[in-house]
Amino acid sequence: MKPASVHDHRERARSRLPRILFDYIDGAAMTETTLRHNVSDMEDLCLRQRVLRNVGTPDTSLSLFGQDWAMPVAMAPIGLAGYYARRGETQAARAAKAACIPFTLSTVSLCDLEETTKAAGVPPWFQLYVLRDRGYLDALLQKARDLGCPVLMLTVDMPVAGRRWRDPRNGLGAAGTAAALKRAVDVLRHPEWLWDVQVHGGPHIFGNLVAAQPDAKNLSDFWTWLGNNFDPTVTWDDIEWIRARWPGTLLIKGILEPDDARSAIKAGVDGIIVSNHGGRQLDGARSTISALPRVAEAVAGAKPVLLDGGIRNGADVLRALSLGAQACLIGRAWAWALGGGGQAGVSSMLETLRQELIVSMQLTACTRLSDAGRHLIDA
Ligand SMILES: Cc1cc2nc3c(=O)[nH]c(=O)nc-3n(C[C@H](O)[C@H](O)[C@H](O)COP(=O)(O)O)c2cc1C
Repeated sequence: MKPASVHDHRERARSRLPRILFDYIDGAAMTETTLRHNVSDMEDLCLRQRVLRNVGTPDTSLSLFGQDWAMPVAMAPIGLAGYYARRGETQAARAAKAACIPFTLSTVSLCDLEETTKAAGVPPWFQLYVLRDRGYLDALLQKARDLGCPVLMLTVDMPVAGRRWRDPRNGLGAAGTAAALKRAVDVLRHPEWLWDVQVHGGPHIFGNLVAAQPDAKNLSDFWTWLGNNFDPTVTWDDIEWIRARWPGTLLIKGILEPDDARSAIKAGVDGIIVSNHGGRQLDGARSTISALPRVAEAVAGAKPVLLDGGIRNGADVLRALSLGAQACLIGRAWAWALGGGGQAGVSSMLETLRQELIVSMQLTACTRLSDAGRHLIDA
């Protein structure tokens, strides 16, 4: 049956992917309270239904950061996507290109910048973690610049990795025979994935990190290197260091507090992404949709504000625009669609979101995105 909603894509991913991968996507930090609040706070926002206002031709398009978008949705960086489907990042980037929306390649993707650019025919946005090895960061930035990546997205809410309980319970990254056996049984229960990704989808390495880790033999070698390379000493001075090396559009991802938004603007970023990493970092942090109005107020139109976290349908996109976002990013929505149905799955999910956004606009009497505002929210 064709998936009708993001939720349906999630269920398809649940049946196709080994549990260890499904839970890696689906899970969040510790009690997963922030993840739940991202979704439930969004659902709790009532939209005002308006009637009899000629809503025949709604327009979902916009122009942002020098690009034309078919709708105010970009694909957020998702690590390990090459494990959800064969060369997963290339499939997702192609779906984004076909839908005329931006795709962001994670630092920790399996497919590297070149492979993704070649597959999609356009360079992706590139997401960067601040790693200890600044020399390597410099080289990565150079590569992204040379390829023509139009946007650098700097993720700042991960100076250390959050504690995610599902992963160790499933034996992710664990050494020893018992964990290996558990993973093997999990994989054998999903032969379609095993054939498509494990057998034919290699190499299973972090493409963008190969040069930093020439001796790494498998993903767990990379994982160990990465774990040791997140930099908890990073400060606003480092943002200036990166700003000096990236003349193009620079977005900062992981802002929840108005003060931090003001500091980011001062440091010279071109846009703010209100994000709590999909609830995967600080469990107990507030939901992004509840943080958005205060951040948007602090930024006061100086730079665009985007939001991610909890976008599960087109009405959620409208909710975020109504509270001050210029656009949204989706994370799990595309990871589930990719895991459940590859490129076709992502394309179908994106079209569903677009149709849902159109209908939500029509039923709230919006014909342009600029019609969205606080007046749409019945609070
Ligand atoms: C499986 C998974 C992997 C992720 N990997 C990254 C990453 O590599 N870099 C990053 O900045 N954010 C990463 N994120 C966070 C997303 O970019 C985004 O902030 C989050 O998924 C938004 O919430 P949503 O999933 O509710 O849409 C990841 C999220 C998930 C679910």
